[in-house]
Amino acid sequence: MRPGGKLRGHLRVPGDKSISHRAIMLGSLAKGLTRISGFLEGTDSLATLHALRRMGVVIEGPDAGRVSIRGVGMNGLRAPELPLDLGNSGTSMRLLSGLLAGQRFPVTLTGDASLCGRPMRRVTRPLTEMGADIQGTQAGTAPLHIRPVERLRGLTYRMPVASAQVKSSLLLAGLFAEGETCVTEPAPTRDHTERMLAGFGYQVRREGASACLTGGGELRACALDIPADISSAAFFLVGASITPGSELLLEHVGINPTRIGVINILREMGARIEVLNPRDVGGEPVADLRVGSARLRGIRIPEKQVPLAIDEFPALFVAAACAEGETRLTGAAELRVKESDRIQVMADGLATLGVKAQTTPDGIIIQGGPIQGGHVESHGDHRIAMAFAMAALRAQGKIVINDCANVNTSFPGFVSLASQAGLGISAPEAT
Ligand code: S3P
Repeated sequence: MRPGGKLRGHLRVPGDKSISHRAIMLGSLAKGLTRISGFLEGTDSLATLHALRRMGVVIEGPDAGRVSIRGVGMNGLRAPELPLDLGNSGTSMRLLSGLLAGQRFPVTLTGDASLCGRPMRRVTRPLTEMGADIQGTQAGTAPLHIRPVERLRGLTYRMPVASAQVKSSLLLAGLFAEGETCVTEPAPTRDHTERMLAGFGYQVRREGASACLTGGGELRACALDIPADISSAAFFLVGASITPGSELLLEHVGINPTRIGVINILREMGARIEVLNPRDVGGEPVADLRVGSARLRGIRIPEKQVPLAIDEFPALFVAAACAEGETRLTGAAELRVKESDRIQVMADGLATLGVKAQTTPDGIIIQGGPIQGGHVESHGDHRIAMAFAMAALRAQGKIVINDCANVNTSFPGFVSLASQAGLGISAPEAT
């Protein structure tokens, strides 16, 4: 990363990762042809696509974000010949665990070293309560071995952590269970599964903090236009905010209320973000976001925003490093079990760049100040790599970010899009 520069122009970041996974899963289980546009061609959502293909679903594409799925119906999946390798993708593993717990065949789910180090008991425990036969390692991690059972029973479950992946996993298992499955969350989390199930004609009852459905129904194929991923847009929201002279228009971004913590937090720090042309696209709210440079100030991040911005903290920590004063995050222990320990890895990288950051068990305290050049480690975590790329806009020297191949999990084409927007970025093997 060359230091300095500014971000200008208009751009559309790739499709939403969470919605892309769900579109493949529900389209595969539906009856009929589901046509998708705006699909994220990142290695995470492609892992889900390949997994469903290996279970006999005919999927055409992706071709410039277009995918067509010939749904096989609720009972049409077939046993894959080999274990399903889900790469780096936690969403694939947790959601597919639920979807596959009620099938008539055995299946093994595995992934890369990072994914096989992440906690899976949060899904295997409640799925076992539903009657599933699902075994992980002694440490509660993948590989997960799922064996067929006579039947699954609906479950009423109060989640101990605010996790959309757990909620979605149980709702997907609930489609194949007898009776009602009801999941209650301790704080609102992304609700794409509930919205999309409704779009596929499946009744989901939502009452306060609970989402409930009754097993045994069917999904009807539909057309889906996937918005740009606010989690990818977040890097540009931060990059433009921290750099004098920046002005960006981010087009067609998903602004589902369960995902907009990054906008709320940045605005509280003093950012200038405008939400333009809000509209509804297939049951998901979408808008264009205009962002310009601003003087940011440190804040205490409200804990209720944490699940709404859970993937955006690496970028927000860079904003905090560029803000005046101290930013304090609490109630975010979940960040330690993402693709990397995002509290520790960000603190280490910020320290390398001369920024004062003190970790706590469930958060971090960052003092805004000058950013120096240096070599930082992303530990194979896509969002850490992209966050430090944005830090270069305000750095006083060159920043080298190591281990960046996984940027392709969520943001293929990041290097060229970011460089078009004005970032001084080059990568030896970038696509
Ligand atoms: C996701 C939910 C979040 C998020 C992840 C995608 C999803 O995880 O961090 O990147 O698509 O449901 P948790 O639900 O485990 O917090």
